[in-house]
Amino acid sequence: MRLKHLFVEFLKSRGIECISTNSRKVLGEDPIAYIARNFVSGKFRIFEGQGRFSFDLDGNRIDACRYVAWKSREGIGREEIEDRLGDFPYLVVDCSLAGLHSEKELRSLKKQVNWTLRVVREFMWDERYVVAGMDTGTSAQHFPSVEDFLDQVRPGKVILLDPGAEEEFRGENADCYIIGGIVDKTGNKRGTTALIYERLVKNGYSVERRKILLRGDVIGVPDRINHIAEIVLRAVMDGTSVEEAILSVQSRKIARWRLRKEIVKNSEKIKRNSRSFRVIRKSFFEDVKTWLNVELEDFYRCASDMGIIVVDVDFNPAKIFNVCG
Ligand SMILES: C[S@@+](CC[C@H](N)C(=O)[O-])C[C@H]1O[C@@H](n2cnc3c(N)ncnc32)[C@H](O)[C@@H]1O
Repeated sequence: MRLKHLFVEFLKSRGIECISTNSRKVLGEDPIAYIARNFVSGKFRIFEGQGRFSFDLDGNRIDACRYVAWKSREGIGREEIEDRLGDFPYLVVDCSLAGLHSEKELRSLKKQVNWTLRVVREFMWDERYVVAGMDTGTSAQHFPSVEDFLDQVRPGKVILLDPGAEEEFRGENADCYIIGGIVDKTGNKRGTTALIYERLVKNGYSVERRKILLRGDVIGVPDRINHIAEIVLRAVMDGTSVEEAILSVQSRKIARWRLRKEIVKNSEKIKRNSRSFRVIRKSFFEDVKTWLNVELEDFYRCASDMGIIVVDVDFNPAKIFNVCG
């Protein structure tokens, strides 16, 4: 359950059916998520009054509401749902390998780490987001290292997301998910997430490693830190399948990488007049489009990039060509 759903449940249990607040910032994001995270961060309390911007509990703007969430010493506060907040996991980005990055990669790393805060805010609140080994100037929690965080907070089950892991991530619950603060623009950091795992184990921490796969392969899984965060949080907190979570963040570009691989794997080799060709049936597109964010034009483009001919559904190579093994 996302924080905003818990918050709505809580308001309803108090007979509160709408909420208002005064900051214009509420208009820039999901209003209920905004009010909920400020409430659990202890910045807002809820009391009778009229704020400037009012919403029903589905987040629709309404004319007025007699409850306001705003700065006050009075009213309902975070402590009243404190006992439910422990169920939310921590999401940690380990930036200890920042030294391996070029200037360009470092800039991208900072952006991705900051975008991850936006993702976390859709599901939880800033306190649950931890950045280790890098100062971001945001309201995420900062620790010198993941080890410092683990020593201080002592979460139970810890999962490190690692594309090189043996075991697959299937949306398992954990108290803490660690993502490597690694940006791989040059392609020379393959396997570096394992360095984080080895270091944590060497330092005496118990960590499980999991890889995120799309139908058995990491190709097609977006690997930006903010995307990995969103996949994990959707699967864990919304209860969607990992595949659905991947599709919700997968760009067409990343989908095309996987599409190329699938086209090659599913193409047939045929021979005519001692020349061989590879063909792929157009109907194959109907299959892949259910689990890759691709359009028919991507299918033609990828096939053509690899010199593979797209043929009609009723194409029968045996009638026209000699089919090779
Ligand atoms: C850009 S990736 C870097 C991966 C790195 N090149 C490697 O091979 O270990 C950044 C981080 O996202 C997470 N990540 C990316 N793809 C993943 C996948 N398919 N499964 C699990 N974690 C993944 C990992 O935590 C990783 O450290």
